[in-house]
Amino acid sequence: MNNIIKFAAISTALSFAACSPAGDQIDRKVDELMAKMTIEEKIGQMNQLSGGYNTIEDVAAGRVGSIHNCVDAEEINAVQKAAVERSRLGIPVIVSRDVIHGFRTIFPIPLGQASTFDPAIVEQGARVAAVEASAAGIRWTFSPMLDIARDPRWGRVAEGSGEDPYLDALMGVAMVKGYQGDDLSDPTSMAACIKHFAGYGAAEGGRDYNSTMISERSLRNTYLPAFKACADAGAATLMTSFNEIDGIPSTGNTFLLKDLLRDEWGWKGMVVTDWNSSGEMIAHGFAKDLKHATELSVNAGVDMDMMSHGYVSYIAELVKEGKISEKEIDRAVRNILRLKFELGLFENPYVDPQASAKVDYAPEHLAAAKQCALESAILLKNNGVLPLEKARTILVTGPLADAPYEQLGTWTFDGQPEHTVTPLQALRKDYNVIWEPGLGYSRDKNTSNLAKVTAAASRADAAVVFVGEEAILSGEAHSLSDLNLQGAQSELIKAVRRSGKPVVVVVIAGRPLTIERDLENCDAMLYAFHPGTMGGEALADLIKGRVSPSGRLPMTFIRTVGQAPFYYNHNNSGRPCSGNETLLNDIPITAGQTSLGCTSYYLDSGYGPLFPFGYGLTYSTFSYSDIALEKNVLSKNDVLRVKCRLTNTGSRKATELAQLYVRDLVGSVVRPVRELKRFERVTLEPGQSAELSFELPVSELAFWNADMEYVVEPGDFMVWVAPDSDSGTPLDFKVE
Ligand code: BGC
Repeated sequence: MNNIIKFAAISTALSFAACSPAGDQIDRKVDELMAKMTIEEKIGQMNQLSGGYNTIEDVAAGRVGSIHNCVDAEEINAVQKAAVERSRLGIPVIVSRDVIHGFRTIFPIPLGQASTFDPAIVEQGARVAAVEASAAGIRWTFSPMLDIARDPRWGRVAEGSGEDPYLDALMGVAMVKGYQGDDLSDPTSMAACIKHFAGYGAAEGGRDYNSTMISERSLRNTYLPAFKACADAGAATLMTSFNEIDGIPSTGNTFLLKDLLRDEWGWKGMVVTDWNSSGEMIAHGFAKDLKHATELSVNAGVDMDMMSHGYVSYIAELVKEGKISEKEIDRAVRNILRLKFELGLFENPYVDPQASAKVDYAPEHLAAAKQCALESAILLKNNGVLPLEKARTILVTGPLADAPYEQLGTWTFDGQPEHTVTPLQALRKDYNVIWEPGLGYSRDKNTSNLAKVTAAASRADAAVVFVGEEAILSGEAHSLSDLNLQGAQSELIKAVRRSGKPVVVVVIAGRPLTIERDLENCDAMLYAFHPGTMGGEALADLIKGRVSPSGRLPMTFIRTVGQAPFYYNHNNSGRPCSGNETLLNDIPITAGQTSLGCTSYYLDSGYGPLFPFGYGLTYSTFSYSDIALEKNVLSKNDVLRVKCRLTNTGSRKATELAQLYVRDLVGSVVRPVRELKRFERVTLEPGQSAELSFELPVSELAFWNADMEYVVEPGDFMVWVAPDSDSGTPLDFKVE
């Protein structure tokens, strides 16, 4: 139970092959090989192509270092054969794929995995993904995505861990550990790729690919900690992002890729562009043509080019012209070859075509996927109808109740919907189910079947409505400016409501939607980010009450899209909200102009979010008591120790997520109103209580200050142990 995850411990858990005797041996092999390579062969290693059989001649000619998107073992072996047996130096290719939340067995989308606040299950998910994908010959995944996301309009919020740097880092490190295992050369390991470096989640207005304006301080305090933690944990590769920051596209950003990543962090891995992100610097207006883009990317420190074709076309010329030095090429090729040696590809280039059949959808993989989905769903409202223990006949309705493909979510090229267990299938084992879909798909506006749904609900003891988003509505390039339920889904909920029967709404979506109006029309709401292959069984367990919900929000839920971006760990304005603000309809007609006493909020949607970060209910209740500090004056070398008694005051076994937040009251720069620093998932029987103890080294209160130094500034702090980011009573402490 006492499983507080210690950030620092995790970050150092993985060792760097590069610093070990094995690493030295690999470096020698790389040197020997590089001594034999022509400049053209070196450039070939820096080129990644998408495909399979179509790339064979390029591979045989030594023009390709990596193949993306080939998932057929026979095809991968054929490409590998061309590399190993036909290219002059026999250098194997490395095969990559976007294995984002599972290969065959699909886990909840990463945002859903973050909702578990359980790094252990997330690590297990990444291990399952690595075992299944490596069996097909894939040894490099473009995951985890570490982009902090504060704006749910951005479709890619689905792919990350939400808005909090600490949670993001823990989840990222868990994934890196799961993918890479203890040893990259194990044939079941995949190299992780931390992406998108950097700031991609801050895209203006949530419009994908858009510009960002992030100060260096805010990059370092908010957007980079997860990258640093994963880099320290041995993440093998890193991907640059599409966006520009303050006018500099990441793929041409020397500060990010050299000064910070290499010189300051000392990271030794391999850097790849995002898909044509080098070429896209032309559209940005940063490069005049592909040759110029290539020059900028290589010189900024990018080792491998994904699909712009610029490297293979122009590097040789640029070297002759003296615009790129051979030293830059050697740096890149060294990083690429080191990875191939570390992965054991020279010894083991081929894959057993029968291997996948033995591991895909293995029972233990499905069990882990179910556990993750169980821990991920968040109970947002419950007036007592859940769990549906007494109901015998239930109406199941809604476009996400039996949508095997949609519940897998974004980036699931290889998950096979025929293996999905839908909520409808699972609930049929527990209840006498009346099935009336109501709508064909989430955007369906046709209301002609809603009367039938009302009638069907009247014949049931209760109704469960599955609404949300189809998989395609979130993910890359799927930004939205309206986050209400699409189509006639809100009307569907109302139609069920008209029956007068208890209404449970289950939202299955890729992002936080604006569900305030739907909350009013239901008795209970469970929010499941696309829950993956085993989502149906997990949701049925929660609905039936075999397990109590334990997911918590990894992103603030807003009332209306106009409130975006909204995040709990914001800075205070000079006029923070008091909670008693005047709202639109309270303003007298012909009121005189005034700004006195006014604070930072919207007249029409108020000052608070719908639900804060960290929020989530369960089928029991918990009380926090005896919160105490071991001491309240600490030095910079001390450890803050906080104890607290947690009691299950309800009548069911349940899991609480106790969260520890701090606030640095006065800084040389304004500090966030709260920051998550620790959490613990605690499962207690009714009436049972436990003493929790949190330990936080004072060194973890450091931040990038006014002088751009990473320091703990002495002064007054507050600390909370609370069930979410908006509650609890703080205690004070001082750092001297
Ligand atoms: C995405 C990356 C992805 C890459 C390769 C890009 O469009 O931004 O996240 O890894 O494609 O498929």
